[in-house]
Amino acid sequence: MAAHKDLPDYTVPSLTLQEGKDVAAILQERLHSLNDLALTLKHIHWNVVGPHFIAVHEMIDPQVDAVRAMVDATAERIATLGVPPRGTPGAIVAERTWEDYHLGRASTIAHLGALDEVYQGVIASHRKAAADTETVDTVSNDLLVGHLHELELFHWFVRAHLESSGGELSTSGASTERGAARKAESAAKNEA
Ligand SMILES: [Fe+2]
Repeated sequence: MAAHKDLPDYTVPSLTLQEGKDVAAILQERLHSLNDLALTLKHIHWNVVGPHFIAVHEMIDPQVDAVRAMVDATAERIATLGVPPRGTPGAIVAERTWEDYHLGRASTIAHLGALDEVYQGVIASHRKAAADTETVDTVSNDLLVGHLHELELFHWFVRAHLESSGGELSTSGASTERGAARKAESAAKNEA
């Protein structure tokens, strides 16, 4: 009895209750990640300063809209699987496995460097979630792969600002947002 306590009462046809629960848990982490990303993108939209302000400020909003749509579809898929999605700020902060975004007011190029790092993390985890759902639930897998089409495109939009004409990324080798921001800023200064 106790072993079944946490199982949903129903899930989608052809999945066991345990499979429904497991897939929903994978999607729940992605829901936190996408909610966090949508908020972080708005924070960047408000805090970029300096040259290219309007271009970067305006580039971010369509990404926010797209990520919010991903949030909605992910939460509704969790509910469809028979599990209540958690979308409150407290749940995001308590359950996320990554740190809050590190930059406040900063230059466009510093934010783009840090955002390169953000997308790197979100996409890597999304790809792992897609791989982990591929066999058990092709519908959830398809949802995640659909997100990846857009997320990887947005990542390229960011990286195109950080790329030299030789195809080299100024953030190459960075492993933190602050480190990536510093590298992007110093490369931009050397170019000027
Ligand atoms: Fe705005």
